[in-house]
Amino acid sequence: MDVLITGGDGFVGQHLCSELIDRGHDVTSLSRTPDPSVLPDEVTLTQGDVTDYDSIEGAFEGKDVVVNLAALPPLHQPPRETSHDSVCIGGSINAVEAAEEHGVTKFIEMSSLGADPNGEIAYWRTQGLGEEVVRCSDLDWIIFRPSFIFGGGSETFTFIKQYTTPYVTVLPDGGKMPEFQPIWVGDCVKMFADGVESDDHVGEVYELAGPEVLTFAEVTRLLYKADGKSVEIVPVPMLIATITLYALDPIPQIPLGINQARALQLTNVTDRNDIGVFGFDKSDLTGLSTYLEGKQKKPKQQQIAANTS
Ligand SMILES: NC(=O)c1ccc[n+]([C@@H]2O[C@H](COP(=O)([O-])OP(=O)(O)OC[C@H]3O[C@@H](n4cnc5c(N)ncnc54)[C@H](OP(=O)(O)O)[C@@H]3O)[C@@H](O)[C@H]2O)c1
Repeated sequence: MDVLITGGDGFVGQHLCSELIDRGHDVTSLSRTPDPSVLPDEVTLTQGDVTDYDSIEGAFEGKDVVVNLAALPPLHQPPRETSHDSVCIGGSINAVEAAEEHGVTKFIEMSSLGADPNGEIAYWRTQGLGEEVVRCSDLDWIIFRPSFIFGGGSETFTFIKQYTTPYVTVLPDGGKMPEFQPIWVGDCVKMFADGVESDDHVGEVYELAGPEVLTFAEVTRLLYKADGKSVEIVPVPMLIATITLYALDPIPQIPLGINQARALQLTNVTDRNDIGVFGFDKSDLTGLSTYLEGKQKKPKQQQIAANTS
Protein backbone atom coordinates (compact mmCIF):
# COMPACT_ATOMS: atom_id res chain seq x y z
CA MET A 1 0.00 0.00 0.00
CA ASP A 2 1.02 3.61 -0.52
CA VAL A 3 0.76 5.31 2.89
CA LEU A 4 1.06 9.02 3.77
CA ILE A 5 1.83 9.79 7.41
CA THR A 6 1.44 13.39 8.56
CA GLY A 7 3.89 13.92 11.41
CA GLY A 8 5.77 10.81 10.29
CA ASP A 9 9.08 12.04 11.68
CA GLY A 10 7.71 12.65 15.18
CA PHE A 11 8.05 10.16 18.06
CA VAL A 12 5.16 7.83 17.11
CA GLY A 13 5.63 8.44 13.39
CA GLN A 14 9.26 7.26 13.37
CA HIS A 15 8.25 3.92 14.86
CA LEU A 16 5.19 3.57 12.60
CA CYS A 17 7.21 4.39 9.46
CA SER A 18 9.70 1.63 10.38
CA GLU A 19 6.91 -0.87 11.06
CA LEU A 20 5.20 -0.13 7.72
CA ILE A 21 8.47 -0.28 5.78
CA ASP A 22 9.23 -3.65 7.44
CA ARG A 23 5.79 -4.83 6.27
CA GLY A 24 6.62 -3.87 2.67
CA HIS A 25 4.59 -0.66 2.24
CA ASP A 26 5.54 2.56 0.45
CA VAL A 27 5.66 5.32 3.06
CA THR A 28 5.73 9.12 2.77
CA SER A 29 6.18 11.35 5.83
CA LEU A 30 4.87 14.93 5.80
CA SER A 31 5.92 17.56 8.33
CA ARG A 32 6.95 21.22 8.51
CA THR A 33 10.64 20.47 9.00
CA PRO A 34 11.28 16.98 7.62
CA ASP A 35 14.13 15.14 9.35
CA PRO A 36 15.53 12.24 7.29
CA SER A 37 18.00 11.31 10.05
CA VAL A 38 15.24 9.72 12.18
CA LEU A 39 13.58 7.66 9.43
CA PRO A 40 14.53 4.59 7.38
CA ASP A 41 16.10 5.46 4.00
CA GLU A 42 13.10 3.97 2.19
CA VAL A 43 10.73 6.66 3.55
CA THR A 44 9.98 9.57 1.20
CA LEU A 45 9.93 12.92 2.98
CA THR A 46 7.80 15.87 1.99
CA GLN A 47 7.46 19.34 3.47
CA GLY A 48 4.06 20.78 4.36
CA ASP A 49 2.04 22.41 7.11
CA VAL A 50 -1.35 20.82 7.85
CA THR A 51 -2.73 24.26 8.73
CA ASP A 52 -2.04 25.36 5.11
CA TYR A 53 -4.11 23.30 2.63
CA ASP A 54 -2.13 24.26 -0.45
CA SER A 55 1.14 23.13 1.16
CA ILE A 56 -0.13 19.58 1.82
CA GLU A 57 -2.71 18.79 -0.87
CA GLY A 58 -0.28 17.42 -3.48
CA ALA A 59 1.17 14.86 -1.04
CA PHE A 60 -2.18 13.03 -0.92
CA GLU A 61 -2.19 12.17 -4.63
CA GLY A 62 -2.08 8.42 -5.29
CA LYS A 63 -2.14 7.44 -1.61
CA ASP A 64 -4.19 4.45 -0.42
CA VAL A 65 -4.09 5.28 3.29
CA VAL A 66 -3.43 8.43 5.32
CA VAL A 67 -2.39 8.30 8.98
CA ASN A 68 -2.87 11.71 10.57
CA LEU A 69 -0.30 12.06 13.36
CA ALA A 70 0.43 15.79 13.04
CA ALA A 71 -0.14 17.37 16.45
CA LEU A 72 1.48 19.48 19.13
CA PRO A 73 2.46 17.82 22.41
CA PRO A 74 0.33 18.55 25.52
CA LEU A 75 3.27 18.81 27.91
CA HIS A 76 4.08 22.44 27.13
CA GLN A 77 2.05 25.38 25.85
CA PRO A 78 2.47 25.59 22.05
CA PRO A 79 4.67 28.40 20.68
CA ARG A 80 2.73 31.60 19.95
CA GLU A 81 2.74 31.12 16.16
CA THR A 82 0.69 27.92 16.37
CA SER A 83 -2.06 26.30 18.48
CA HIS A 84 -3.78 23.01 19.24
CA ASP A 85 -6.88 24.42 17.51
CA SER A 86 -5.10 25.21 14.24
CA VAL A 87 -3.16 21.91 14.08
CA CYS A 88 -5.65 19.40 15.52
CA ILE A 89 -8.90 20.86 14.19
CA GLY A 90 -7.71 22.93 11.21
CA GLY A 91 -5.13 20.29 10.31
CA SER A 92 -7.73 17.49 10.39
CA ILE A 93 -10.11 19.56 8.21
CA ASN A 94 -7.35 20.13 5.63
CA ALA A 95 -6.10 16.54 5.70
CA VAL A 96 -9.62 15.12 5.32
CA GLU A 97 -10.38 17.51 2.46
CA ALA A 98 -7.14 16.62 0.65
CA ALA A 99 -7.81 12.89 1.18
CA GLU A 100 -11.34 13.23 -0.25
CA GLU A 101 -10.03 15.31 -3.16
CA HIS A 102 -7.54 12.59 -4.11
CA GLY A 103 -9.76 9.55 -3.53
CA VAL A 104 -7.75 8.19 -0.60
CA THR A 105 -9.39 4.94 0.55
CA LYS A 106 -8.72 5.00 4.28
CA PHE A 107 -8.01 7.73 6.84
CA ILE A 108 -6.60 6.89 10.26
CA GLU A 109 -6.88 9.64 12.86
CA MET A 110 -4.53 9.54 15.83
CA SER A 111 -6.46 10.94 18.76
CA SER A 112 -5.71 10.15 22.38
CA LEU A 113 -7.30 8.69 25.48
CA GLY A 114 -9.43 11.38 27.11
CA ALA A 115 -10.28 13.16 23.84
CA ASP A 116 -13.42 15.19 24.50
CA PRO A 117 -14.89 17.97 22.32
CA ASN A 118 -16.17 19.63 25.51
CA GLY A 119 -12.99 19.07 27.53
CA GLU A 120 -11.26 21.84 29.46
CA ILE A 121 -7.72 21.04 28.31
CA ALA A 122 -6.89 22.37 24.82
CA TYR A 123 -5.02 19.22 23.69
CA TRP A 124 -7.87 16.81 24.52
CA ARG A 125 -10.63 19.21 23.43
CA THR A 126 -9.05 19.70 19.99
CA GLN A 127 -8.37 15.96 19.65
CA GLY A 128 -12.09 15.41 20.33
CA LEU A 129 -13.06 17.97 17.70
CA GLY A 130 -10.50 16.53 15.25
CA GLU A 131 -12.27 13.18 15.68
CA GLU A 132 -15.59 14.84 14.83
CA VAL A 133 -14.12 16.21 11.59
CA VAL A 134 -13.01 12.72 10.56
CA ARG A 135 -16.30 11.08 11.57
CA CYS A 136 -18.24 13.55 9.39
CA SER A 137 -16.12 12.78 6.32
CA ASP A 138 -16.93 10.47 3.40
CA LEU A 139 -13.75 8.51 4.05
CA ASP A 140 -13.32 5.02 5.50
CA TRP A 141 -11.96 6.13 8.85
CA ILE A 142 -10.49 4.57 11.98
CA ILE A 143 -9.82 6.52 15.18
CA PHE A 144 -7.18 5.42 17.69
CA ARG A 145 -7.12 6.81 21.23
CA PRO A 146 -3.92 5.61 22.88
CA SER A 147 -2.91 6.44 26.43
CA PHE A 148 0.55 7.93 27.12
CA ILE A 149 2.92 6.17 24.70
CA PHE A 150 6.47 5.47 25.85
CA GLY A 151 9.62 4.26 24.15
CA GLY A 152 12.82 5.48 22.51
CA GLY A 153 12.53 9.22 21.84
CA SER A 154 9.51 9.74 24.14
CA GLU A 155 9.19 13.44 25.01
CA THR A 156 7.41 12.50 28.25
CA PHE A 157 10.62 10.98 29.65
CA THR A 158 12.53 14.16 28.77
CA PHE A 159 9.77 16.30 30.32
CA ILE A 160 9.77 14.41 33.62
CA LYS A 161 13.55 14.64 33.93
CA GLN A 162 13.43 18.34 33.03
CA TYR A 163 11.07 19.17 35.92
CA THR A 164 12.19 16.69 38.58
CA THR A 165 15.47 15.80 40.22
CA PRO A 166 16.89 12.46 41.38
CA TYR A 167 17.15 11.66 45.11
CA VAL A 168 14.69 14.38 46.29
CA THR A 169 12.01 16.04 44.17
CA VAL A 170 8.92 18.14 44.75
CA LEU A 171 5.67 17.03 43.09
CA PRO A 172 2.14 18.48 43.31
CA ASP A 173 0.13 16.37 45.78
CA GLY A 174 3.09 13.98 45.99
CA GLY A 175 2.55 12.92 42.34
CA LYS A 176 -0.66 10.97 43.13
CA MET A 177 -2.04 12.47 39.93
CA PRO A 178 -2.13 12.36 36.98
CA GLU A 179 -2.73 8.64 36.56
CA PHE A 180 -1.73 6.96 33.30
CA GLN A 181 -1.92 3.57 31.65
CA PRO A 182 1.29 3.80 29.60
CA ILE A 183 1.58 1.72 26.45
CA TRP A 184 4.83 0.86 24.65
CA VAL A 185 5.26 2.39 21.19
CA GLY A 186 6.47 -0.97 19.85
CA ASP A 187 3.11 -2.55 20.77
CA CYS A 188 1.10 0.47 19.58
CA VAL A 189 2.54 0.63 16.08
CA LYS A 190 1.69 -3.01 15.46
CA MET A 191 -1.97 -2.16 16.14
CA PHE A 192 -1.81 1.00 13.99
CA ALA A 193 -0.18 -0.95 11.14
CA ASP A 194 -2.94 -3.57 11.39
CA GLY A 195 -5.39 -0.68 11.05
CA VAL A 196 -3.60 0.36 7.85
CA GLU A 197 -3.69 -3.15 6.38
CA SER A 198 -6.99 -4.67 7.48
CA ASP A 199 -10.51 -3.71 6.34
CA ASP A 200 -11.99 -4.99 9.62
CA HIS A 201 -11.60 -1.77 11.60
CA VAL A 202 -13.32 0.85 9.44
CA GLY A 203 -15.74 3.08 11.38
CA GLU A 204 -14.33 2.03 14.77
CA VAL A 205 -12.86 4.05 17.66
CA TYR A 206 -10.24 2.13 19.62
CA GLU A 207 -8.96 2.98 23.10
CA LEU A 208 -5.50 1.49 23.65
CA ALA A 209 -3.77 1.31 27.01
CA GLY A 210 -0.91 -0.52 28.64
CA PRO A 211 -0.92 -3.29 31.26
CA GLU A 212 -0.53 -1.13 34.38
CA VAL A 213 -2.03 2.03 35.90
CA LEU A 214 0.73 4.29 37.24
CA THR A 215 0.74 7.66 38.97
CA PHE A 216 3.08 10.49 38.04
CA ALA A 217 5.15 9.65 41.14
CA GLU A 218 5.44 5.98 40.15
CA VAL A 219 6.53 6.87 36.60
CA THR A 220 9.11 9.30 38.00
CA ARG A 221 10.50 6.67 40.41
CA LEU A 222 10.72 4.06 37.64
CA LEU A 223 12.58 6.46 35.35
CA TYR A 224 15.24 7.24 37.95
CA LYS A 225 15.43 3.62 39.12
CA ALA A 226 16.45 2.71 35.55
CA ASP A 227 19.41 5.12 36.05
CA GLY A 228 20.25 3.45 39.39
CA LYS A 229 18.92 6.43 41.41
CA SER A 230 16.21 6.62 44.06
CA VAL A 231 13.73 9.49 44.48
CA GLU A 232 12.23 10.79 47.72
CA ILE A 233 9.07 12.72 46.79
CA VAL A 234 8.18 15.86 48.74
CA PRO A 235 4.51 16.81 48.25
CA VAL A 236 3.49 20.39 47.50
CA PRO A 237 -0.25 21.16 47.86
CA MET A 238 -2.16 20.91 44.57
CA LEU A 239 -3.71 24.33 45.22
CA ILE A 240 -0.29 25.99 45.34
CA ALA A 241 0.86 24.20 42.16
CA THR A 242 -2.38 25.22 40.41
CA ILE A 243 -2.17 28.89 41.45
CA THR A 244 1.48 28.99 40.35
CA LEU A 245 0.69 27.55 36.91
CA TYR A 246 -2.25 29.95 36.43
CA ALA A 247 0.06 32.85 37.34
CA LEU A 248 2.71 31.65 34.87
CA ASP A 249 0.21 31.29 32.01
CA PRO A 250 0.52 34.83 30.55
CA ILE A 251 4.35 34.75 30.52
CA PRO A 252 5.32 33.79 26.95
CA GLN A 253 8.82 32.63 27.90
CA ILE A 254 7.43 29.97 30.27
CA PRO A 255 5.75 27.12 28.37
CA LEU A 256 3.59 26.01 31.32
CA GLY A 257 0.19 27.36 32.28
CA ILE A 258 -3.53 26.69 32.73
CA ASN A 259 -3.64 23.59 30.52
CA GLN A 260 -0.80 21.99 32.47
CA ALA A 261 -2.51 22.91 35.77
CA ARG A 262 -5.68 21.17 34.63
CA ALA A 263 -3.69 18.16 33.37
CA LEU A 264 -2.26 17.66 36.88
CA GLN A 265 -5.69 16.41 37.97
CA LEU A 266 -6.11 14.03 35.04
CA THR A 267 -7.02 10.36 35.22
CA ASN A 268 -5.93 9.11 31.81
CA VAL A 269 -7.03 5.47 32.08
CA THR A 270 -9.68 3.32 30.42
CA ASP A 271 -11.92 0.44 31.50
CA ARG A 272 -12.50 -0.34 27.85
CA ASN A 273 -9.10 -1.38 26.54
CA ASP A 274 -9.45 -2.48 22.90
CA ILE A 275 -6.07 -4.21 22.53
CA GLY A 276 -7.93 -7.54 22.27
CA VAL A 277 -9.33 -6.51 18.86
CA PHE A 278 -5.75 -6.69 17.57
CA GLY A 279 -5.06 -10.06 19.16
CA PHE A 280 -3.22 -8.67 22.18
CA ASP A 281 -3.75 -9.64 25.78
CA LYS A 282 -2.45 -7.51 28.69
CA SER A 283 0.21 -10.14 29.35
CA ASP A 284 1.54 -9.68 25.78
CA LEU A 285 2.23 -5.98 26.28
CA THR A 286 5.50 -4.49 27.47
CA GLY A 287 4.87 -2.50 30.66
CA LEU A 288 6.87 0.59 31.55
CA SER A 289 8.88 -1.13 34.30
CA THR A 290 9.72 -4.06 32.00
CA TYR A 291 10.73 -1.65 29.25
CA LEU A 292 12.97 0.37 31.53
CA GLU A 293 14.68 -2.83 32.65
CA GLY A 294 15.46 -3.41 28.95
CA LYS A 295 13.20 -6.43 28.67
CA GLN A 296 10.78 -5.59 25.84
CA LYS A 297 8.59 -8.53 24.96
CA LYS A 298 9.00 -10.14 21.57
CA PRO A 299 6.50 -9.11 18.86
CA LYS A 300 3.57 -11.49 18.52
CA GLN A 301 4.39 -12.96 15.11
CA GLN A 302 1.21 -15.01 14.97
CA GLN A 303 -0.88 -11.90 15.66
CA ILE A 304 0.83 -9.94 12.88
CA ALA A 305 0.23 -12.77 10.42
CA ALA A 306 -3.43 -13.10 11.44
CA ASN A 307 -4.07 -9.41 10.85
CA THR A 308 -2.25 -9.15 7.53
CA SER A 309 -4.84 -9.80 4.88
N1 LIG B 1 3.24 10.47 22.44
C1 LIG B 1 2.19 10.08 23.17
O1 LIG B 1 2.29 9.71 24.35
C2 LIG B 1 0.82 10.08 22.53
C3 LIG B 1 -0.24 9.50 23.25
C4 LIG B 1 -1.51 9.48 22.69
C5 LIG B 1 -1.72 10.02 21.43
N2 LIG B 1 -0.67 10.58 20.77
C6 LIG B 1 -0.94 11.16 19.45
O2 LIG B 1 -0.08 10.59 18.47
C7 LIG B 1 0.23 11.57 17.49
C8 LIG B 1 1.74 11.70 17.34
O3 LIG B 1 2.29 12.06 18.61
P1 LIG B 1 3.85 12.17 18.80
O4 LIG B 1 4.12 11.92 20.23
O5 LIG B 1 4.57 11.38 17.77
O6 LIG B 1 4.08 13.73 18.54
P2 LIG B 1 5.43 14.47 18.17
O7 LIG B 1 6.62 13.66 18.48
O8 LIG B 1 5.32 15.83 18.76
O9 LIG B 1 5.35 14.58 16.58
C9 LIG B 1 4.43 15.44 15.96
C10 LIG B 1 4.68 15.43 14.47
O10 LIG B 1 3.74 16.33 13.87
C11 LIG B 1 4.44 17.26 13.05
N3 LIG B 1 3.70 18.51 13.03
C12 LIG B 1 3.40 19.32 14.06
N4 LIG B 1 2.73 20.39 13.61
C13 LIG B 1 2.56 20.22 12.28
C14 LIG B 1 1.96 20.99 11.25
N5 LIG B 1 1.36 22.16 11.51
N6 LIG B 1 1.99 20.51 9.98
C15 LIG B 1 2.60 19.34 9.69
N7 LIG B 1 3.18 18.57 10.62
C16 LIG B 1 3.18 19.02 11.90
C17 LIG B 1 5.83 17.37 13.69
O11 LIG B 1 6.83 17.79 12.77
P3 LIG B 1 7.16 19.35 12.53
O12 LIG B 1 7.20 20.01 13.88
O13 LIG B 1 8.48 19.36 11.80
O14 LIG B 1 6.07 19.86 11.68
C18 LIG B 1 6.07 15.92 14.07
O15 LIG B 1 6.50 15.19 12.95
C19 LIG B 1 -0.46 12.87 17.95
O16 LIG B 1 -1.71 12.98 17.34
C20 LIG B 1 -0.64 12.65 19.43
O17 LIG B 1 -1.70 13.39 19.94
C21 LIG B 1 0.60 10.61 21.28
